[in-house]
Amino acid sequence: MNYNKKTVNDINLKGKKVLLRCDFNVPQDKATGAITDDKRIVAALPTIRYLLSQGAAVIACSHLGKPKGEVKPALSLAPVAVRLGALLEQEIIFAADTIGEDAKAKAAALQPGQLLLLENLRFDAREEKNDAEFAKALADLAGADGVYVSDAFGTVHRAHASTAGVAAYLPAVSGMLIQKELEIMGGALANPKRPFVSILGGAKVSDKIGVINNLLDKADTIIIGGGMAYTFIKAMGHDVGTSLLEADKVDYAAEMIKKAEEKGVKLLLPVDTAIHTKFENTTNFLTVDTDAMPEGYMGLDIGPKTVGLFSEAIKGAGTVVWNGPMGVFEFPAFAAGTNAVAKAVAESGAITIVGGGDSAAAVEQLGYADKMTHISTGGGASLEFLEGKELPGVVCLLDK
Ligand code: 3PG
Repeated sequence: MNYNKKTVNDINLKGKKVLLRCDFNVPQDKATGAITDDKRIVAALPTIRYLLSQGAAVIACSHLGKPKGEVKPALSLAPVAVRLGALLEQEIIFAADTIGEDAKAKAAALQPGQLLLLENLRFDAREEKNDAEFAKALADLAGADGVYVSDAFGTVHRAHASTAGVAAYLPAVSGMLIQKELEIMGGALANPKRPFVSILGGAKVSDKIGVINNLLDKADTIIIGGGMAYTFIKAMGHDVGTSLLEADKVDYAAEMIKKAEEKGVKLLLPVDTAIHTKFENTTNFLTVDTDAMPEGYMGLDIGPKTVGLFSEAIKGAGTVVWNGPMGVFEFPAFAAGTNAVAKAVAESGAITIVGGGDSAAAVEQLGYADKMTHISTGGGASLEFLEGKELPGVVCLLDK
């Protein structure tokens, strides 16, 4: 994929109206609606500040959650407007719709240095359908002389009206967040400081199929933990009790084990595991070797021997890319493996990149966030990036 795209630094912004796509899809407290983590809003600030300082008027837009084309007040971006205003220390003008009368009037009246935030784009079903009329109407908010800036890294894997379609109607460039994500993650993949150690975890092999395959061509060592490891352990001929198992992916796992051998990539799997009969947070668990798992038990975390094995490999790394927790870290009793791996990554001295989603949450929760070189703001987007897939939200931008 070509990452050499024009950025906000390559375009004249003075007096222009900029349609800025952000990823303000932030977690909220289910009961109160309060934003529980504003990292994605904070990550958008450098681009917003730059645009405003260059004399642009900014029309920011985003999705929040999955309202599926319906207006759902609980998924309004109004709380985001409040938080953004507090962070920017500036008044945020909020439109009650996206391409309706309120947005149109407020966009038309917007002055250089002002910021308008539109309501949740996914309240309109045409957003996710990448509908041309909807994309054109969004572009029209910025006027004939407008510019489109994409800075929603978390959403670049989606070909939606506001992430891809709109680029057909306005000069389209990337913001600073996308630029940074592409530079750091692209650099790690294209020209990694070796040894390049990749750590993959999380529940499902099926979520990481493309990633494993792509990283087998690039990494020196691949570490596999989390629920997905049991499909690999099964592929090696061992019983996994009632652990997570994707029976239809066992052959694929066997193929990946073979590919690693052929390529000379060290593939490290758990050698011991913390097990219990139920999926619950309990200190009353056993630890057994992964080739001796008893019937009726499920693996919920990697064991201490595995922590030693993985930590040793991480210690000597030049680059570490980590995506997915090592166990059910939401249960304190089964967070030890993820915690130990986070510590090993933080202390490795390597260039350390943590994919978004669960692994980013784990690193935050365990207090290692400021020890990592880069924590991606993309969950699905960073995975698709690691797969080497074309990202529609990047492809649509102007080439340098
Ligand atoms: C994310 O949280 O990964 C992005 O905001 C994309 O959200 P989506 O999976 O609902 O498209």
